[in-house]
Order: sequence, then structure tokens, then C-alpha cells
Amino acid sequence: TSQLVPLAAEDPLYEVLAACQSDTSKVKIDLGIGAYKDDNGKPWVLPAVSKAEAILRQRLDYNHEYLPISGLKSFTEAASELLLGKDHPSIQQKRLLSIQSVSGTGALYLGALFLATLTPLAKRVANISFPSWSNHSAIFRTAGWSISEYPYLRPCSQEFDLQGTLAAIEASPPDAVFVLHACAHNPTGVDPTPDQWKEIAQALKRKNQLPFFDCAYQGFATGDFDRDAFAIRHFAEQGLEFFVAQSSAKNFGLYGQRVGCLHYIPSSLLSKKESWVTLARVKSQLSSLQRSIISNPPRYGSHIVSLVLNDPELMKEWKNNVLTMSERIGKVRKTLQSEFENRGTPGTWSYITKQVGMFIMLDVRADQVLKLREEYHIYISPNGRVSLGGLNTHNIDHFVRAADRVLKE
Ligand code: LMR
Repeated sequence: TSQLVPLAAEDPLYEVLAACQSDTSKVKIDLGIGAYKDDNGKPWVLPAVSKAEAILRQRLDYNHEYLPISGLKSFTEAASELLLGKDHPSIQQKRLLSIQSVSGTGALYLGALFLATLTPLAKRVANISFPSWSNHSAIFRTAGWSISEYPYLRPCSQEFDLQGTLAAIEASPPDAVFVLHACAHNPTGVDPTPDQWKEIAQALKRKNQLPFFDCAYQGFATGDFDRDAFAIRHFAEQGLEFFVAQSSAKNFGLYGQRVGCLHYIPSSLLSKKESWVTLARVKSQLSSLQRSIISNPPRYGSHIVSLVLNDPELMKEWKNNVLTMSERIGKVRKTLQSEFENRGTPGTWSYITKQVGMFIMLDVRADQVLKLREEYHIYISPNGRVSLGGLNTHNIDHFVRAADRVLKE
């Protein structure tokens, strides 16, 4: 009975959020969850999103009816074009399927559950980078997978460990799943180069393993939506079969609206006819799973994204909005690096401006993380991850001073 149920550990990121929220200090800084804030530390509703909301509310067909089980077609189609590019053969030949999900998390879970329950992947081993977003292992475990970790950074460095990744692929069984961050790796901010992606694709193809991309930061890494989708497009060109969990939380600032999409791209070894049959089967099963988990996906946010992606003017404005966010984070990176260097804070800081996306990892011990929290009211993740969207021109000085003192101890 439920009385025997042990207490579960708190989610590491949400624990940080709750602790920060209950801190009454005026100087507190929330650098836990990866949610962008503006230079005044306030949540930012993207102007393109506000415009789309205004249009949506004026539409005669604006209502809160159920969406179809697989979601809003104008959203899922536009989302797949954003990912692969309008002219991509997979789009042109309709060799992919897209099903709306409860943000990236829902897409990962739906895909993981589908693979665990409906495909003959005998060993059910999901390979997750170490480190990774803390929820990756939790999601795959809940869906029935055991977890294996592949090394992501070379020991004691802030460089991508290509050899370690390739060795893990080589050592894994043919039907293993590899969870890959499409761009702006969370938490390290270190991405493989295009050439390294090519080697990874080749190795996975040779071993007949299944890549599962998590694409939560398209637009945040290089500021160019096509470049940020390089790995996904390359894998499709190489004919690999794979899944993508796409989130609109970060690049639309629609965190709480839970907008996302699961895409499946079948292997190009299949004939056109075979791939359409496969797609129809997979879509029927994903829809049936979706119905039993959430019935149908949330409506409001998907209409907003659909309006933006299907209107050239709004799309242009939205891409500029994403650039505003990534450029502000870029400035935070520059300030952090020069401040740490000027103060002689222990460590090598040049990596900060080489890396991309929302996060950096500080090389800190658990007691130092605690000290930042208890003495300076600064909240970072337990693994040393700092969410840069929470830093701004008003609070960066307090953060640098505190981190400098703590790291010198
Ligand atoms: C994060 O990594 O902070 C975000 O993806 C938010 C979350 O749900 O964990």
C-alpha cells in the first residue's frame, strides 16, 4: 500500500527554484532553471509572441476546444520545417511524422515509451551524455529503460570528448539508443563541431544504433536557426533513422505553455512505399499512446507558434527576438570572463565565451554551492550549472564577487 512508499528525492532544479523563491533577500539571484530573463531580471514575453496572441484572440475561430490527438497540423508542419528546412527531401517527400507533445519533456517521454513498448530493442539501454539535463535519465527510466552514460567532456577540460563518445558507441549493442543534444548542450554549452557530428553519425550508422535528439535551443547556439539544426539535417542526409524531441519553451519563451513536437524520420534505406507504411504505423501507435497519457496536447501555445512560423513578418521578428536573447547572454558571457580574469579567480575562464547557449558549468564543490546560497543568496544548480539568463547588468557584480570569494577558499 501507499504507506510503504519511500520518499522520492526532490528534483534538483525545482528544489533550487523553490529555495530561491522562499528567500526574502533583496540581493538574491536565481541561476537555477534555464529560463531567460531580461536585463531587469523579469520574464520576457517575446514581442512576436505578444503580436501572435493579439491576432489569435481576434480570430473568429478562437476557442478552447480539444485539438486532434496528434495536435495542430499547422503547428507540427511548421515545426518540422523549422527543424529540417522547407526544401529538405524528408519534408518534400513527406518522409517524416510529427506529433505535438507536452513540450520537449513530453516528446522525449512519448518517444521513449514507444520505443520501449512497441519496438524490439532488446536491451533497452538509453545512452545519455555525462553530464546532461538531469531529467533525461529520469524520463527514460520512467519509460522502462536502463541508463548508460557516455563521457561528454574530456577529463578536467571544457572540451567535447569525441573519442569517449565514439568509444561508447562502439561498446554499445546494435539496438542501443543515444540521446544527443542537437545544439547548445545542457549543461555544458559545448557542442561537437560539424566534422565531429559527421563522425558521430557515421559511428551510429555503422552500429545501427538509434539517435534520439533533444532540440530545445535552436537559435540560441549560433543565432542561426539553420546552423543550429546542422546535426539533425546531416543525420537525415546520411539516411539514419531517428527521433527528435523539439521544444518551443526556450526559443519562444513559452515555458509554461508546454509546446513541443516529436518527430520521427525513418531510415532512407526504406523505399518510398515502405517508409510511408512505416510512418502510418508509427503514427497510429504514437497517437494511441498519446491518447492514453494526455488524451490530446495543449492548444493555446501551439496556435501562437503556428501563427509566428506561418507568417513571414512575424517569423522575421521572432528570429530577431531570439537574437536579442542570445546576444544579451553573449554579453553576460564576455563580462563574466573578463571579471574573473581581472580578479584572478582560480580557473581558466576563456571557455566562457567559446561556449554557447544558456549555461556554464562552474568547477565547484557541494559546500561551495551551499555557501553561495547561504551567504550570498545566489542559487545555482547542485552540479555547478549557472543559468546565464538570470544574470544582468544590475546583479552580475554581486555574482562575480561572491563566486570569486567562494572559489578562492
Ligand atoms: C533546465 O534545464 O533548467 C530546463 O530545461 C528546465 C527544466 O525543466 O528542467
